Parts: sequence; structure tokens; C-alpha cells
Amino acid sequence: MTTIGTPGTAGATRVLLLGAGELGKEVALELQRLGVEVVAVDRYAGAPAMQVAHRARVVDMLDPVALRAVLDEERPDVVVPEIEAIATAVLAEVEAAGVRVVPTARATRLTMDREGIRRLAAETLGLPTSPYRFVDSPEGLADAVAALGLPCVVKPVMSSSGKGQSVVRTPDDLAGAWEAAQSGGRAGAGGGAAVRVIVEGFVEFDSEITLLTVRHAGGTSFCDPVGHVQVDGDYRESWQPAALPAAALAEAQRVAVAVTDALGGWGLFGVELFVVGERVLFSEVSPRPHDTGLVTLVSQDLSEFALHARAVLGLPAGEVLRLGAGDGQGAAASCAVLAEGHGVPRFEGVDAALAVRTAQVRLFGKPVVAGHRRVAVTLARGADVDEARARAREAAARLVVHLDPA
Ligand SMILES: Nc1ncnc2c1ncn2[C@@H]1O[C@H](COP(=O)(O)OP(=O)(O)OP(=O)(O)O)[C@@H](O)[C@H]1O
Ligand SMILES: [Mg+2]
Repeated sequence: MTTIGTPGTAGATRVLLLGAGELGKEVALELQRLGVEVVAVDRYAGAPAMQVAHRARVVDMLDPVALRAVLDEERPDVVVPEIEAIATAVLAEVEAAGVRVVPTARATRLTMDREGIRRLAAETLGLPTSPYRFVDSPEGLADAVAALGLPCVVKPVMSSSGKGQSVVRTPDDLAGAWEAAQSGGRAGAGGGAAVRVIVEGFVEFDSEITLLTVRHAGGTSFCDPVGHVQVDGDYRESWQPAALPAAALAEAQRVAVAVTDALGGWGLFGVELFVVGERVLFSEVSPRPHDTGLVTLVSQDLSEFALHARAVLGLPAGEVLRLGAGDGQGAAASCAVLAEGHGVPRFEGVDAALAVRTAQVRLFGKPVVAGHRRVAVTLARGADVDEARARAREAAARLVVHLDPA
């Protein structure tokens, strides 16, 4: 039986969010609705989830001493990582001391490193993936590309949002790909050493999907597949449901169950898959809500964030109802809004964006942009995926992001 206390009292059910971005903000809001005390942690002040949490802590989460100190002070019942870049050894320590780490400390360690999750999926579980090699030097990279054949995708083993990632199409691209991976990846322990790299054969997929999969007290549930488009390794548009052959959907669910069962624990997972005909290749998995799953804010009665909140508290996820367009059919879409430059975001044209039929916006409240950052998302529904996508894109086009001097 799960009991939930009252925030701010001795009996509070306290959740510590490690990472306080836009996805964490939605998780925090869902936890707040369930009367949970929420502490949001990130390495900078004013992060989106901090703005809706009971307390905020600014900490470098890759620093094991600092992370440990926050955990000791806050004494959470549940630790919910929202990002990959965390000193995961500390999570194993607190888990051993009886704190629930979502989904498990081992899963956070395996999925923060492409090598951990790829070897688990392909070698331990025997799931289909792209062909791959791990290398630590430019010579190793050249050998791997020679073995796998062109084109190849080169990625640092520790990175996200496409950082440090490139496609090698000709031998001339090799040096640049190595350099990009070295500057774009997070180094592991032993600073100064080369960033380890995965080389993957390029998959000419028909489509790519995220299968949102929830492990919860009542079992394992799936959302309808989310289709998406990525540019430079970053998601731009997503929609639900993604059309795929029935056999591919069954295979996607088989792969998702295998991977999430092997990782274990409670929570929502974003299982990233490439669809090639009726075949499905496992790509990677987030043991947490997925950015492409933002579409579920308007496509389902329980969004991926609501499902995650329930699951991490040890509650059953319940039945997920995909919302129809009146006739029970219908689709939904999301479109990322990016800002480029330096400054404090100011959104113009929110009224115009909302004038698009069914459109909604989520403005993340990020305190500053430095470079290239996702600052908002538009959401829309439609009779079918094409209509929903067109509306979400139109709403995004009407939203003008100005960057004011900080
Ligand atoms: N082997 C591959 N063949 C073809 N395309 C690929 C391959 N690997 C990655 N991609 C493309 O690049 C995108 C990003 O790759 P991946 O998910 O591995 O990186 P990431 O940095 O973890 O991105 P994110 O954090 O946004 O999920 C994929 O969604 C896909 O579109
Ligand atoms: Mg990915």
C-alpha cells in the first residue's frame, strides 16, 4: 500500500529531481498534483522545474561529494534523475541505503553510457541493433569504419541531444568526426584521456519511433508509438500515433519489454527504435520521460509525465486513454521552438500561436539562452497526423522568440 504524506511536514513524501529542465518541470507539476514534496536540483539557478518545486538546490551533479551532501540533507524518499550526467555511483550508495532510485541505480549507470546499454541490448539480450564498434583513437575509428562500411554514425559514448555526433560518408569525414566526438562528449573518469566513441552502421530506416513504456506497480503498459523527426540529433517534431505495420508494432513492444525488464525498477521509459519494414532495431532508451513524448501532453488523458509520477511513487499507472478528435480517431503533434543566440527569452505572438485550432504552447521559462536551446514547444491535435503536425508547425511559426540582454 502506498501512502502519501503532506508537503512541509515530517510525514511528507519527498522526491528529489536530479535535473530541472522542461521535462522535469512537467514531472514536478504532476508530483505536486499528488501532494508530493518536490526538490529540484540542477547546476544553475532558476531552472524550469525549480520554478514549480518546493525547494531548489544548485549543485554540480557530476560532483559525487556535492551530490552526496544534497542527498544527505534532503533525505528524499525517491530520487528521480531527469538527465544522464550524474555521478551515478552516489545513486548506488543511496539505493543501498534504502532510497528508491528511479528506475534503479544500475539502469541510470547503464543508460548514461552508450556502451552499457548497447552491450546489454545487443549482446546480453540479443536484440537487433545497428552494427557497431567502440573505439578510443582515430586509428580505431578508421578500422571500425572500414569494417562496418560507409556511411557510419559516430557518437561519443557519453553525450545527449546529438552533441558530438556526426555522419561519416566518405573517408575525408573521419578526422572531423573524431574531433567532433572529442569536443562534444563528456569525458569519463580519468580526465585527459580520449573520449570513447561508438561507431554505428547508418540505418536507412523507414521511420523512427519512441515507444513510451511504463513499468509500474500494476505491470508494464505502453503508449501508442510516437513518431518523430530529428535534425542534428535533436528532436524537432513528434506525433502520435505513428503509423507502422502491425508486425512492427508487436516487435517494438517485444523489444521494449525485454529492455525495460532488464533495466528493472519503476518509471516511464522512452524506448527509441528504428523501423525498417516489419523489422525493428533498438537504438537507445531513456529511463525517464522523453522529449518526443511531450506530445502526450495533448494526446492522452495521462501524459508521460503523469505516468512517470504515478509509477515512481509505486502507484499503478492505470489505463491510458488516447484522446480522440470527437470520433475516437484523431492524432496529436508537437513542434519544438528553438532559440539561437544569447539573452533572456521573450515570446511574442503567443496569442497568434494559440489562434491556430487546437494549439497549445508550453513556454519553459529557461532563464537564459547561450547558443542553441529549446525554449518552448507547441502542441496541437487534428483528425490525422498530417493535420496535427501542420497545426503544431503553424503555431510554432507564429511564436517569435526575442533574446533580451541579460
Ligand atoms: N545508426 C544510425 N543510423 C541512422 N540514424 C541514426 C543512427 N544513430 C542515430 N541516428 C539518428 O540520430 C538521432 C540521434 O541519435 P541518438 O538518439 O543516438 O543520440 P542522442 O544524442 O542520444 O540524442 P537524444 O538525446 O536527442 O536522444 C537518432 O534519433 C536518429 O535520427
Ligand atoms: Mg536519442
